[in-house]
Amino acid sequence: MSVLKDTYEMAKGTVQGVMQKAIALAPDSWIPGGTPDPLIREQHGHTGKPVSRIDGPLKVAGKAPFSAEFPLDGMLYAAVAFSTVAKGRITSIDSAAAETAPGVALVMTHENVPTMKPMPLFMTSELAAGGNSLPIMDPVIHWNGQPVAVVLAATQEQADHAKSLIRVTYDTDAAVTTLETARANGTDLAEFQGQPLRMIVGEPEDELARAPHKVDHVYRTPRHNHNAIELHGCTVAWDGDRLRVHDASQAVAHHAWTLGAIFDVGAENVHVTSPFVGGGFGGKTLWYHQPLAAAASRLAGVPVRLNLSREGVYRTVGGRTLTEQRVALGADADGSFTALIHTGSTIMTRHNAMPEPFITGSMSSYASATRHLEVRVGYMDMLANTFMRAPGEAPGTFALESAIDELAHAMNMDPIELRMKNEPERDPTTNLPFSQRDVEKAYRMGAEAFGWAARQAPGARREGEWLIGMGVATATYPYYRMPGGAARLTIARDGRARVEIAAHEMGMGTATAQSQVIADRLGLDMEQVDFAYGDTLFPGQVLAGGSQQTASIGASVIAAQKLLWAELLKLAGNDSPLAGLSPDEVGGLRGGIAALNDPARWESYASILARAQRDEVSVEGKAPQPLEIQHWSMHSHGAIFVEIAVSSVTGEPRVRRLLGAFDCGKILNTKTAASQFRGGMIMGLGLALTEETMFDERSGRIMNPSLSEYHLPVHLDVPEIEVMWTDIPDPHTPMGARGVGEIGITGVGAAVANAIFNATGKRIRDLPITLDKLL
Ligand code: MOS
Repeated sequence: MSVLKDTYEMAKGTVQGVMQKAIALAPDSWIPGGTPDPLIREQHGHTGKPVSRIDGPLKVAGKAPFSAEFPLDGMLYAAVAFSTVAKGRITSIDSAAAETAPGVALVMTHENVPTMKPMPLFMTSELAAGGNSLPIMDPVIHWNGQPVAVVLAATQEQADHAKSLIRVTYDTDAAVTTLETARANGTDLAEFQGQPLRMIVGEPEDELARAPHKVDHVYRTPRHNHNAIELHGCTVAWDGDRLRVHDASQAVAHHAWTLGAIFDVGAENVHVTSPFVGGGFGGKTLWYHQPLAAAASRLAGVPVRLNLSREGVYRTVGGRTLTEQRVALGADADGSFTALIHTGSTIMTRHNAMPEPFITGSMSSYASATRHLEVRVGYMDMLANTFMRAPGEAPGTFALESAIDELAHAMNMDPIELRMKNEPERDPTTNLPFSQRDVEKAYRMGAEAFGWAARQAPGARREGEWLIGMGVATATYPYYRMPGGAARLTIARDGRARVEIAAHEMGMGTATAQSQVIADRLGLDMEQVDFAYGDTLFPGQVLAGGSQQTASIGASVIAAQKLLWAELLKLAGNDSPLAGLSPDEVGGLRGGIAALNDPARWESYASILARAQRDEVSVEGKAPQPLEIQHWSMHSHGAIFVEIAVSSVTGEPRVRRLLGAFDCGKILNTKTAASQFRGGMIMGLGLALTEETMFDERSGRIMNPSLSEYHLPVHLDVPEIEVMWTDIPDPHTPMGARGVGEIGITGVGAAVANAIFNATGKRIRDLPITLDKLL
């Protein structure tokens, strides 16, 4: 995500030159200097349709293999023991009982662990994927929950039992486990992707002081842990210096490179596959379990399966850290913002590169005459943080969009009207033109479908013991495209096409949507397309993160298709109706290639290959650098509407209706995209009402490492969710689409809080909004 860096670079003064270049471009060249992508505007046979998941039948039949479901010959099962202190040093490990327990083959501790280098930190270099940069399996303890021993046994139960027999003693040091101490020790300006999280335009405090209307409050969001349905796990085997990993990964190329660095064998000697992933959300990257499994496997000389327990995920896989955010807004009499201040602090560790960047959504969402955005970071001895669905925007929009609701109430203005009043013409911090932005249309669609006009004054609507309210908030997430996309495209004499790319299917519908796109590009039926992914033998450094995978694959396939046309036209030669055409003058049609301006000039793939006596043609395309993000301000938006009932007797909040109207460019598959939006919004309900990692400030230990005590929304918490979209193509992205993976969670926290205020007159600025806060 060098995106933020680019944004800051441009904010520093190169804006003018970039803008002039952008204006000179052809309108549908999605990338500066590129050719138009016909899928942006034209209707085709498959793209945009509600195609059911092509992997659905496999999953329903239990035949889709996940990382911990690959049985390998002679495989042992691993269990991990965790430190029970937050800081100190191991003085002794008594593993005698564990070693002689039934089925046990090996106990690995710092005393016998093979050499490993620290993990290069995720997002600090192109392929780094590590969650922290500490020595792995070190006698020095850095957090409560750090792995201190790994047991290998013939069964999982035997490994778990033996693990319980291990006794560890520590020399403990004073750990920083309270917010108070962390702050007293001093905070730093937070950096994200190497750039400081601070932006100051004008004199916002002066403007705030003289503004006729203002709000100024502090909002808090707690720690959150990752709770993908599929636990983090891997099955690994060594063959000499070659490592084979069946992983649960949203970044296979990154995992191979990072494991290659940890074991000093090189990425080329690490083969990672991840054909199915049961949810990623930012957490399915490289933590200790993969290197520990590989180290134990090396020590034991047999394959190892390490599937973390749910508790193990809480102890060793980072989550979203807490935030404390001040939002102050000043407005003129008509509601125009004169000051937008969004500052505050978050917590991380010293061996981690992930402060929660909660100001990112406040950079581009609203116009304001002046602005101060800043994230400070304090340090604790705890598990390292990581990315979680819409890092930054998810907690950041809770604060910003709550504050806007508070200002609207103070001004007696409709909160949608106040937002529309502050729609920027150009990006307010970079002055770049928007690639596509129609927030107003999303609000119009959503307000009409939801019946927003029926909203009443706070506390005015009551049904028996239930107070009813409506709330709204803006969702926002940027378009990203990271460098390194590449794809192999093969067309065979039987007319079938195959795309191979090291991308991921974590449940989003990637393979389905991409097969639709590829079928349309090549003029094939979906059944004639194989989309192969999740394997480091395939080209590409594709991260399923930052909602950028669709664009990354799309750009790679466009590049490959161009090479394929050139190759096929060469093979077609002078005897073909296509003779004399250039790759830019043809497109895929009815199982072959046709001239764009004369579809009668056509020849099938089968015919071209037969005449050339070739079984297949294969090309490898590399996606161009993501120049589009430097030329345009590229963001998706949405309008989130909530109706909630709050019991006046118990304070219990029940969400009755939830609607999201999204402006995310063109929608490639209306069924899988709707699922992405809904899933994000459900995660938003968790953020708003139930989710909180309980951190014991005495011991630094997470107190609720289980699905029974960490409360995720379940079926009865989730109402019918209506989703809709503007479906206006973004002319500056592959296929006209922006990502839909993360935006659904954003805005929901504030929309719920705003609905609760409308129902009860109570403003809650601390998440989650549990019933005790409403009594
Ligand atoms: Mo997402 S937090 O970029 O997987």
